[in-house]
Amino acid sequence: MLGATSVIAKSAEDSKPKNVVPGSIGEPMVISTWDFGVRANTKAIEVLKAGGTALDAVQQGVMVVESDPTVTSVGYGGLPNAAGVVQLDASIMNGNDLECGAVAGLSGFENPVSVARKVMDDTPHVLIVGSGARQFALSKGFKERDLLTERSRAAWQEWRLKQEKKERTEDHDTIGMVAIDRRGQMAAACTTSGLAWKIPGRVGDSPLVGHGLYCDSDVGGAAATGIGEEVIKVCGSYQVVEYMRQGVHPQEAVKKVLQRVLDRQPNQPERWVGFVALRKDGEVGYASTNAGFQVAVADLTSSRLIAAASLR
Ligand code: GLY
Repeated sequence: MLGATSVIAKSAEDSKPKNVVPGSIGEPMVISTWDFGVRANTKAIEVLKAGGTALDAVQQGVMVVESDPTVTSVGYGGLPNAAGVVQLDASIMNGNDLECGAVAGLSGFENPVSVARKVMDDTPHVLIVGSGARQFALSKGFKERDLLTERSRAAWQEWRLKQEKKERTEDHDTIGMVAIDRRGQMAAACTTSGLAWKIPGRVGDSPLVGHGLYCDSDVGGAAATGIGEEVIKVCGSYQVVEYMRQGVHPQEAVKKVLQRVLDRQPNQPERWVGFVALRKDGEVGYASTNAGFQVAVADLTSSRLIAAASLR
């Protein structure tokens, strides 16, 4: 099932993609991972409706999920690492100039995507990690808070008592979002608390540009969810966008990258991966290696939650 909303971008004075159609009006659109993507999309569309940029839309959209204590795989309320510390990874990318920013292993801040945005806007760097990211966030005025909720603390204590060796993967649901605004600007954001009970310091795909997300307004954008190690091995989101650049439809682009994952990991069904993709003309793609993946798609007049196809 593919969305077919057509988007023709309007020319913009600043940082416009090369291939916008002058004088035409584009239709804003957004695609996100999972059911919580519906709420994130609502916020993003609100921003886009008000004339905001795709960059502001993806940031504010995913912040809704970061701040939701009931989501145990993103931001506040996310399940902690093996030491009981919530370590967050996030990134954001501007598809017009390929500027991007990211943080990894950041503890104590509810909205890591906003810290990532500051890395992008205020520094010449792309990725700041661990204690450096904390210092950076403090220097930018972000307020620290305890990210453990009663529920996530109890889950960690239960895990510790059982001495489970396995990482918990079943509710490992990154929010990844790609948006296009009226000017034809595209942007993407991706944010997660990563694998529950991970080895402290473990970093997944989400803060790695080209892996957890990639966006180029000349082509489109993609974002990943699932086991970050598998996404990293295939440079997942970059590869989806590069297939689209070669003329492959976003749905086929997603499936080709997933097939590459499966070809190399045929006997590890727990190591699943999913992608969402949005092409600059509004065509979308979404699928996962395993059943159960859902995606949220919204434009100015509609919002849908869709069950994505799986490859196995
Ligand atoms: N996909 C997010 C992670 O593996 O951390």
